[in-house]
Amino acid sequence: MASSRATQSVLLLTATLGLVNAVALPAATPAPARVEVRAPIVTPAAIRFDSRHSYLEKKDIINDIKSGVAGVAKSWESVIGSALPSFFTDGVPGWFEGLPTGTQVQSSLGISDSDLAAQPTQVLNVPPYANWTDQGWNVRFHGNVYKIPDISQSRVDELANVFLIDTEVSKLPADQQANARNLTRSIFIVQQGNVNVSLSLEPSPSQGGDGEPGGGNAIPAPGGVQNLTLPYETTDLGDFDVFVPIQSNGLLPGNQTTNVQRLNVYTNGTTTGNATAFLVPTQGITFISDIDDILRVTKIWDPKEGLLNSFARPFTPWLNMPDIYANWSRTLPNSTHFHYLTTTPEQATRNYMDFIYKTYPGGSFDTRPLNFSDISATLSIRMFLLQKVFKTFPQRKFVLVADTSNSDVMKDYPQLAHDYPNQVQCILLRNTSATDSSMWFPYNTEGFKGLNNKSYMFFREPNDLTGLDISNGQCLNTTIPQNVTFDRQTDGRFRLGSAGGKVQGSATISFIVALVAAMFMTL
Ligand SMILES: *[C@@H]1O[C@H](CO)[C@@H](O)[C@H](O)[C@H]1NC(C)=O
Ligand SMILES: *[C@@H]1O[C@H](CO)[C@@H](O)[C@H](O)[C@H]1NC(C)=O
Ligand SMILES: *[C@@H]1O[C@H](CO)[C@@H](O)[C@H](O)[C@H]1NC(C)=O
Ligand SMILES: *[C@@H]1O[C@H](CO)[C@@H](O)[C@H](O)[C@H]1NC(C)=O
Ligand SMILES: *[C@@H]1O[C@H](CO)[C@@H](O)[C@H](O)[C@H]1NC(C)=O
Ligand SMILES: *[C@@H]1O[C@H](CO)[C@@H](O)[C@H](O)[C@H]1NC(C)=O
Ligand SMILES: *[C@@H]1O[C@H](CO)[C@@H](O)[C@H](O)[C@H]1NC(C)=O
Ligand SMILES: *[C@@H]1O[C@H](CO)[C@@H](O)[C@H](O)[C@H]1NC(C)=O
Ligand SMILES: *[C@@H]1O[C@H](CO)[C@@H](O)[C@H](O)[C@H]1NC(C)=O
Ligand SMILES: *[C@@H]1O[C@H](CO)[C@@H](O)[C@H](O)[C@H]1NC(C)=O
Ligand SMILES: *[C@@H]1O[C@H](CO)[C@@H](O)[C@H](O)[C@H]1NC(C)=O
Ligand SMILES: *[C@@H]1O[C@H](CO)[C@@H](O)[C@H](O)[C@H]1NC(C)=O
Repeated sequence: MASSRATQSVLLLTATLGLVNAVALPAATPAPARVEVRAPIVTPAAIRFDSRHSYLEKKDIINDIKSGVAGVAKSWESVIGSALPSFFTDGVPGWFEGLPTGTQVQSSLGISDSDLAAQPTQVLNVPPYANWTDQGWNVRFHGNVYKIPDISQSRVDELANVFLIDTEVSKLPADQQANARNLTRSIFIVQQGNVNVSLSLEPSPSQGGDGEPGGGNAIPAPGGVQNLTLPYETTDLGDFDVFVPIQSNGLLPGNQTTNVQRLNVYTNGTTTGNATAFLVPTQGITFISDIDDILRVTKIWDPKEGLLNSFARPFTPWLNMPDIYANWSRTLPNSTHFHYLTTTPEQATRNYMDFIYKTYPGGSFDTRPLNFSDISATLSIRMFLLQKVFKTFPQRKFVLVADTSNSDVMKDYPQLAHDYPNQVQCILLRNTSATDSSMWFPYNTEGFKGLNNKSYMFFREPNDLTGLDISNGQCLNTTIPQNVTFDRQTDGRFRLGSAGGKVQGSATISFIVALVAAMFMTL
């Protein structure tokens, strides 16, 4: 089967190239989770490694390897000896586009229709946001309807091993084995198209927790109880994503309250489709935050670590970032809203939600919908989701948070500041290469040219963010040297094509991850 072939190829490649990954496994960064879980908690699941970061740079790496500049292999095609998809050879990363869907899963794993029919229908209900309109509250319900086929554990392990470098499921500690299997089962699901989705809404009781009632002083909605059915059936890929004006039934109008109101959303027919909806006042500040390597430790630039951190190990907050968010949640005006936007494929996002709600202020979510799977969509997904939020809240101000290892962030965030100059309050970017020596990918600051240099900050660690007066637009901690060149930056660390052994090793490992994923796609 493709999976074992891929695994073997990787082992072969690893042996051929004599790779040694010299990076020691870091101890998990301890940080207490202090916020209580909200009432309808989403089901946790493990995560697939997502290496769409820095894809432009990976193109260069692949070119390097191709031309032998890195000195690793004369020709990687000859090493592999088989055709790869053209988008891969062209350097566009394909490994996150190829998650199998529906019939592919069913046919590749030999699951019969009747076996599948016997499985319960499940629903991923992504925590929605709502804006206030002439028709009242307008809620963006989005998510996916699917079934989990019954796959034997040995087959699951075989599939899971494809995601791991230099190890396998059987060698992981028991809790990590469980995560890896859970992740794999979450990916090998069969989406259900043409299904009607019915929801019921009711006030979400106080979340409790350490002075962070759901984020930005959100309150339980004082009404809103109702049942509704979405106006369209799910797409062929099982997705639903639609704004629905809901009945007021006692909700506070968005132009007459400064509090975010929380509604519980339950999906009829399953206990898997619970979420909290956030009804966001017309004016105020919305934090839009990426998750990997800014709210949690992923090390996406270091594939072996990134895979383990995403796939097997429990999610770990990044240093004291939860304290920074807790302080913003407590001290900024009641109208403050938190939105978590990850471009991880939706099948893999339950774990993200579970982690965020245990660790950071409650808020709405965006994940990568399944129909964003071709190459142009891959390059545009983050901007598509960001623009949707901006257009939904034309009177709100935004604080955009992420790290420099995302090449789409480095383009999209400053572009939004150019396009919506009155809406982008701050851009806060963790410079991952400043603190992590294994992050050697260049990043590009060209987009920041022409922006007010007090409206953004590159920072190194969470404490750099203390004491900012975000409400009044103070986004820059002037004690932090900025070093912005408005060009591709490497911070003196690395020049493509002239690497030392360490860099060369990382490049090759990145490449192998890409290879594994490309082969995984052929399932
Ligand atoms: C609040 O919004 C409603 C619906 O859009 C509108 O009819 C009403 O005039 C608004 N009230 C104020 C005070 O702006
Ligand atoms: C993943 O783990 C959670 C919590 O143990 C469980 O409820 C869920 O059903 C699992 N998901 C899969 C796909 O096995
Ligand atoms: C979904 O609901 C619509 C409207 O009630 C109905 O016409 C359609 O047949 C339903 N689809 C399914 C698959 O039940
Ligand atoms: C919503 O539907 C449930 C059954 O699915 C019912 O028990 C409940 O009374 C309904 N609520 C409203 C407000 O119609
Ligand atoms: C994906 O579906 C959403 C609606 O669910 C739609 O707005 C969007 O344009 C689609 N995107 C692509 C790339 O097909
Ligand atoms: C909820 O689903 C049940 C079957 O599971 C169905 O009988 C009922 O009509 C549905 N309720 C709504 C409000 O769609
Ligand atoms: C979803 O909510 C229902 C009703 O409160 C509850 O019974 C169920 O356990 C919840 N599901 C999860 C996964 O928490
Ligand atoms: C913020 O919301 C809380 C909870 O409803 C309320 O007690 C407080 O008065 C609000 N503060 C302001 C400034 O409106
Ligand atoms: C509410 O959101 C919808 C969907 O993005 C948007 O079309 C509409 O203009 C927004 N309404 C207001 C009053 O901002
Ligand atoms: C800017 O460069 C200096 C000197 O190399 C470094 O100490 C500092 O961390 C850099 N600033 C950021 C935000 O990376
Ligand atoms: C700026 O960053 C430094 C170093 O992390 C920190 O000690 C300080 O509190 C931050 N805030 C301000 C306003 O200087
Ligand atoms: C907490 O946030 C407020 C508002 O942004 C800010 O004024 C204050 O300095 C922050 N405190 C710390 C310790 O970061």
